[in-house]
Amino acid sequence: MRQIRDVVLETIPSPCFVLEEARLEQNLAVFERVQREAPVRVLLAFKAFSLFHTFPLIRKTLHGASASSVWEAQLAAEEFGGELHVYSPAYREQDMPSILGYASHVTFNSISQWERFRPLIERSPSPPSVGLRINPQYSPVETALYNPCQPSTRLGLSPEHLGNLLPQGVDGFLSHNLCESDSYALEKTLLHIERFFGHFLPELKWLNLGGGHLMTDKGYDISHAIDVLRAFHNRYPHIELILEPGSAIVWETGFLLSSVQDILPTSDLTNVILDVSFTAHMPDCLEMPYKPVIRGAHEPQKGEKVYRMGGSSCLAGDFLGDYAFSYDLSVGDRIIFEDMMHYTMVKTTMFNGVVHPSIGVLRKDDTFELWRQFSYEDYRARLG
Ligand SMILES: Cc1ncc(COP(=O)(O)O)c(C=O)c1O
Repeated sequence: MRQIRDVVLETIPSPCFVLEEARLEQNLAVFERVQREAPVRVLLAFKAFSLFHTFPLIRKTLHGASASSVWEAQLAAEEFGGELHVYSPAYREQDMPSILGYASHVTFNSISQWERFRPLIERSPSPPSVGLRINPQYSPVETALYNPCQPSTRLGLSPEHLGNLLPQGVDGFLSHNLCESDSYALEKTLLHIERFFGHFLPELKWLNLGGGHLMTDKGYDISHAIDVLRAFHNRYPHIELILEPGSAIVWETGFLLSSVQDILPTSDLTNVILDVSFTAHMPDCLEMPYKPVIRGAHEPQKGEKVYRMGGSSCLAGDFLGDYAFSYDLSVGDRIIFEDMMHYTMVKTTMFNGVVHPSIGVLRKDDTFELWRQFSYEDYRARLG
């Protein structure tokens, strides 16, 4: 694994989200291969990652972006370019004219939304290709918060909503049912789509298989995914295949650097107070929940000092643990939370007025460049 020299880390202001350029290039090479060997176009899902300073690099490999709102669509049009697929659980009347100015593809979550906006789309000077989100009746995701196919889901049409005829004017389907999933879940998804929506496939122009394809994870069987996509293409050569992953693009490409502000021993563990907050800066850790990897830390063994990492907000549950280190922590020590690019950065808040982490990049030559620092004015501007 690539190691960052300590002297470089010392130059980074704390707290700071740091993107590692070399690792992003490695991930993009995976998608270059997938697009070269399988008949598929890959887009970046902005909801997972929209750090636009990286777009010139990502754009060399990916065909475009997918947006879930008018603001993401505007950012994609301004900073990414290429193909733009927009999908939202429901569009607001006042946003649609702008969306139509940006999007190449617009996907609706329901027939009622499609019918509501159909006249506007048909009058548009450059109408987008229209799609519907389907519920493929299968998801491997066990956590309800992240399972789009849970019972009574609001996301996507089930076969009984669609009947036998593809609504007029609809060109494609979007199916998003995976989350950090493998190629076998992709294969099963396609089987479910054929089983439940097979009668529409002869008429479809495109099929967007959403996100959740963790192709950049070490264990992902890329050759198998390529075979699965090719086999589907051989059965339906007229259907353009699209993927819109988010997490996989920036999987393990950066970290959140923080530093120890105080150390509070209790009878059974030692509380560490950091200059970052789980609830404000790493909310998925509490929502999923999961315990993030800290560089150089390990699971406490019997007899070792147990550290609990505490956030800088006043929320009682703003902590995660337990961790152990091979040395005693002191005020000023740097704590590095690994793999904090996907979703973490886009979901941050300024709850409690806690200092918002800066954003920067570690270049391939190990130099650090600061892209953004936040100020009191940023905090104030969100409130009025
Ligand atoms: C419709 C849609 N597309 C793409 C994605 C990106 O998924 P991931 O970041 O897991 O690849 C999501 C995530 O929620 C989604 O809802």
